[in-house]
Formats: sequence, structure tokens, C-alpha cells
Amino acid sequence: MVDTLREGKRRVIVLGTGGTIAGRATAAGDNIGYTAGQVGVTELLGGIEAPEGIALAAEQVAQIDSKDMSFAIWRTLAERCAHWLAEPDVAGLVITHGTDTLEETAFFLQSVLAPSKPVVLTCAMRPATALSPDGPQNVRDAIAVASSPGALGVVAVCAGTVHSAFDVQKVHTYRLDAFDSGDAGPVAYVEEGAVRGLRSWPVSSQQDARELFEQMTNAARWPHVEIVMSHAEARGSLIDTLIRERQSGAAEPVEGLVLAATGNGTLHRALEEAALRAQAAGIAVVRATRCTQGRILPAPNALLRDAGALTPVKARIALVLELMADQPAAD
Ligand code: SIN
Repeated sequence: MVDTLREGKRRVIVLGTGGTIAGRATAAGDNIGYTAGQVGVTELLGGIEAPEGIALAAEQVAQIDSKDMSFAIWRTLAERCAHWLAEPDVAGLVITHGTDTLEETAFFLQSVLAPSKPVVLTCAMRPATALSPDGPQNVRDAIAVASSPGALGVVAVCAGTVHSAFDVQKVHTYRLDAFDSGDAGPVAYVEEGAVRGLRSWPVSSQQDARELFEQMTNAARWPHVEIVMSHAEARGSLIDTLIRERQSGAAEPVEGLVLAATGNGTLHRALEEAALRAQAAGIAVVRATRCTQGRILPAPNALLRDAGALTPVKARIALVLELMADQPAAD
């Protein structure tokens, strides 16, 4: 834990979790052959000046490639965020994170914290060792947002653009501007340290978040929820295997199923029949669209509920949290 001199300043706490932003390559010219999650968060802050009236502090929460994100790290991260957000002199938080599951972590944190201060996830598409890394500017922009009066909720900052946790999606494998907010559009831009708002900051029920946070900390284990995609020649065999596993008393049986559905939530006939068998067997089933834009407009008499505007990965988090209410508490 590194803490700069405070002298009555407000603090922005930077929590490190790894990612390409903390990646190291053997050659400076190499933007893709690197190992993510190598450089410590304190080092990432080297040379970054705090805005006027702000002191920076850093804490390493994890050091991973975000493709390997786990429930255990999410829980620790949420607890560290809650700890820092409760400090009266903390203006906001920055979380350095890999791009690959950033949208999942953002949505999870918004769900369990619904913070009235800004929690800003940031990232990079080039490793810290690159000749011209994008991480340092993204961190500067994220700190600007985290210390900006009026900013709140969990957002992602990448390439000068602020995206809400509800809408953000990684949409590009390589470009520095790899994220998009779809139909909703970004929340703000960051221009030379100034935050230019475009629409209202994301909010959700703080009461719901408090309940989910408590459930999360009490749960002995988190529910097992799988995502299955609908596509041409889809089969129900994978779902039937999950049903059989559950019926045979597996240790962590599937409790929920998110179907990555086509278009406005439609499913291949074979998959839909298997999903209805799963629902009849007590598995919670939700349809989410695999389209990158738009939302499912509910059809009357639908036999399987839909996730509205949530992408399959975010619908999975919502279902994990919903099913957590039914879990036995830890001893
Ligand atoms: C990761 O998600 O940790 C690796 C990829 C990236 O950050 O761009």
C-alpha cells in the first residue's frame, strides 16, 4: 500500500488487478507477445501527477491476466472498494484491469456497490513495456474522472472515453479504442484532464446493492451458471448433460443457464426444447441476445424469460447474484 503525502487533500485510491496495462514483453517493439499482470500498480503510477488537491494512493489487489478472473478476486475487489469508498476523504477509486473481462468486473461492481462516488476501471491494449504504451494516458484520464465532482457509479475509461458499467463492451481485439457503449453511447469524454459529460451518470438501487453485497459476503459458494450459445445446427445435448449432472448429485450442479440467443432473443428449436427441459428440472434459464447492440423486446407468452439489454456475460452475473439469495450461508 503506497500513500502519497495528503496534507488535507482528497484521495484517489488506485487498485491494481493486472492486465495488459501491467504487461511486460521482452522487446519494447512487441505489442502482442507479452505476459499480462507483471508490473505492480505503484510502478504504473510512476511519473503520473495527481490533479490539484488530490493525493494518490495505490493498493495491489490481484495480479492476473483478466481472462482468468475469478469469483474470489471479485469478492476481494468489491470488499476493498467498499472499504475505501467509506473513507470520507476518498473522492473516488481507479481500478487497473485487463481489457478482456473488464465489462464483467464493471457490471459486477456496479451491481454490488452502486457507489455514489466514481469507481473507474481502466486498462490498456499495449503492455507497459511498449514503445508507446496507452496505459499511462488511460490512468491519467481515469484519475481525472475519479476526482471529478459529480462523477459517480462504476464506469470504464479507455482512449479518452467514459463508458457506463451497464453498457460497456470490448468490441475490438487490437485497436487502442477497444470499447463501445452501443446504442446508449458514452457517458463522457476526458479532454486534457477535463471531463465533458454527455449524459447522466449511471445509477442503480443502493438498497439492492447493499443486499447483494451482504449476500455475496455470506454465501458459502457462488452459484454455477453456464452460458450456451444458439447458432445454426445447435443441439440440446450440452444442456441435457448439465441436467443429468445435476440429477446425479454433482458437487456443484448447474443452477442457472444463460442462452446467448439470436436477434430478439430467439433460439434454435433443439436448444429451446432442451432449455425448457432444464427449466422444468429446476434450473433458472434466461435468454440474452448475442447481438452487440439493442435489447430484447419481450414477446407475449414467452416461455423463457429474457435479460433485456444485458449481454450474455452480464446476464450471467445478474443470474449468479439472483441465485445467490438461495445459497446456504457460510459457517
Ligand atoms: C487481460 O485482459 O488481462 C489481457 C488483455 C488486456 O488487458 O488487453
